[in-house]
Amino acid sequence: MDFESLALEYKTPLYIYDFEHIKEQFESIKDAFRARKSLICYAVKANSNLSILRYLGKLGAGCDCVSVGEVKRALIAGISKYKIIFSGVGKEDNEIAYALRQNILMLNVESEEELKRVEAVAKYMEIKARISVRINPDVDAKTHPYISTGLKQNKFGVDVDTAKKLYIYAKSSEWLEPIGIHCHIGSQILDIEPYKEATKITAELLKNLKALDIDLKFFDVGGGIGIRYKDEITIEPYDFAQAVLANLGESDVTVVCEPGRFLVGNSGYLLTKVLYEKKNGNKRFVIVDAAMNDLIRPGFYNAYHEIEAINKDEQKTSKADVVGAICESSDFLGKNVSLPRLNHGDLLVVKSVGAYGFSMSSNYNTRARCAEVAFAENKYRLIRKRETFEDLIGCETECLVRGNL
Ligand code: LLP
Repeated sequence: MDFESLALEYKTPLYIYDFEHIKEQFESIKDAFRARKSLICYAVKANSNLSILRYLGKLGAGCDCVSVGEVKRALIAGISKYKIIFSGVGKEDNEIAYALRQNILMLNVESEEELKRVEAVAKYMEIKARISVRINPDVDAKTHPYISTGLKQNKFGVDVDTAKKLYIYAKSSEWLEPIGIHCHIGSQILDIEPYKEATKITAELLKNLKALDIDLKFFDVGGGIGIRYKDEITIEPYDFAQAVLANLGESDVTVVCEPGRFLVGNSGYLLTKVLYEKKNGNKRFVIVDAAMNDLIRPGFYNAYHEIEAINKDEQKTSKADVVGAICESSDFLGKNVSLPRLNHGDLLVVKSVGAYGFSMSSNYNTRARCAEVAFAENKYRLIRKRETFEDLIGCETECLVRGNL
């Protein structure tokens, strides 16, 4: 990547994504399931840029969405409606109605009350709703507690017995058609065992339901495959697929999986410019033009992202905290990073930020969100303009005039 030219052309802070990497990741997971019918539904929340969705759609991906906004993004990007899944614990009636009207593949329900609401909305619209139920298998994914979702204490899904009841109810309803089963136990998972345990439980239920004449077509194992940020040993797609398939036996289902981070995480770079260096006592700080509003993962989860200085030959380094200009002590991109002496205008690049980077960014401190650039076919293309101050206040200005406070 030619970071210096990119900084000149698009300014900083800037997100850059290597689309070739996204393609390789997609193909590796698709290939791992080649012995079966499979559908890879990209988890839009990881990075919802329309150009990324369109690119993955062309490769054959579907989308896993958790809001009507994400469903709309997927449709605008050209994802086939039969490859869109709508998950999430708190869908509103208008969101359910929109998804039904669009005739997407299925709604993934996460509670008894939600199932009844889907039924009521479907009845009102005189449409049969295709659904799956999210199982909470009570399995520990051994990841950061904030991104662990498959334990009883987490708000997600329902236990196996409740799920069975919901399927029996759905089967008998005129307005519901159970077609899938779903389980997602967490994110940044590095250990295969929890997947084995969770799919075993889900596959067992699939079998029991079949005996009750509830014949499901889609077996959705969720997302969560971890990536390497530093020196983590990650799960190979082949091993992941084997862990899933081993539990499925002969059952004739389409395997669905919903990777987010795995597809886009290591494709992303956040390019940022050094503003100042300063020392408080012995503590060295490098203050840059990106901040926690651009990348909240370090401050929020204490997540590690490698940071590298661009085009600095100097061998001598010392430890520094790389921080932004936001008024919070959690506003850091890296702690104790080994860096050479830096001057105003030098460039740093923060790595592995393709997932949950831009998509979790905000306008905190009235800061405009970054531009985004794709690197594909040896060319750079702008895929999101940098926000302007006017974009930020647009929803308020009219009210200010009308409200006349
Ligand atoms: N499917 C469902 C139902 C999910 O809730 C998620 C992520 C995924 C798939 C995709 O998981 P992935 O393959 O990306 O691990 N903001 C956090 C991660 C939150 C993940 C939320 N759910 C982070 O920055 O680490």
